[in-house]
Amino acid sequence: MNSAPIEGVDSSSHLYVEGLDTRHGTVLYLEDVSVSFDGFKALNKLSLYIAAGELRCLIGPNGAGKTTLMDVITGKTRPDTGSVFFGQTINLLAMDEPAIAQAGICRKFQKPSVFDALTVFENLELALTTNKSPWATLMFKLSPSQRDRIDEVLTTIGLSAQAKQRAGILSHGQKQWLEIGMLLMQDPKVMLVDEPIAGMTHQEIERTAELLLSLQGERSLVVVEHDMEFVRSIARKVTVLHEGSVLTEGTMDEVQNDPRVIQVYLGG
Ligand SMILES: Nc1ncnc2c1ncn2[C@@H]1O[C@H](COP(=O)(O)OP(=O)(O)O)[C@@H](O)[C@H]1O
Ligand SMILES: [Mg+2]
Repeated sequence: MNSAPIEGVDSSSHLYVEGLDTRHGTVLYLEDVSVSFDGFKALNKLSLYIAAGELRCLIGPNGAGKTTLMDVITGKTRPDTGSVFFGQTINLLAMDEPAIAQAGICRKFQKPSVFDALTVFENLELALTTNKSPWATLMFKLSPSQRDRIDEVLTTIGLSAQAKQRAGILSHGQKQWLEIGMLLMQDPKVMLVDEPIAGMTHQEIERTAELLLSLQGERSLVVVEHDMEFVRSIARKVTVLHEGSVLTEGTMDEVQNDPRVIQVYLGG
């Protein structure tokens, strides 16, 4: 079991979610997880351990099982076998998608789902309400602490100056950050991020790297990305998936120099 301290993360501080026990330093446990689609194994006895507060990069060729893995963690897909735990004691296989999200595991999809007609601030406000209609937001009264939280998230995502602008006029990259901000409003303990930099400019990519790095520690992140230069810029530990299993794990240098990884990427 991997519970080594992570660089930059204070191992004495633990994440607190009601009922979430990360005393062993691990926030997500997947063991021997298999998923079949018509007999084809999209995941094949996959085991993965994510430490509290770490930023893990997940790479692997198309069809390796990366999206299926995220689907399993978030409850969208049920594995045929294996176990999936949040902390030591919360069995994610006994929970449905909304309950898993409620417990503090959220997912950022590629396509932003911000409301163009609302301001940046209002979008963050909307993320606080359970009723997802824009009208509910207009009727919703913010408490001072909720207002502070929105300001804090605006600072984190670098959009304080755009708070009163309509989301519709944001750049593609800014919309992606706003989407991350909307997830942060829920204060998740684990964020799963699928291809965060697709379609971004070089500057936006650099800013996204800084943003993701700033989020680790307080929460854990699992980032799936194809752009190896970007992965290198944020990676501490990289997991390489192949044919539904973990091929290898290590630093970016370790995995890039691993002959099995080279073989898989060159399609040998
Ligand atoms: N709903 C599904 N039905 C049938 N096959 C699927 C389904 N979802 C994924 N697959 C197959 O499982 C494999 C893994 O897919 P996926 O997890 O999307 O890989 P990745 O995200 O790494 O590209 C692929 O071969 C894909 O075709
Ligand atoms: Mg995928």
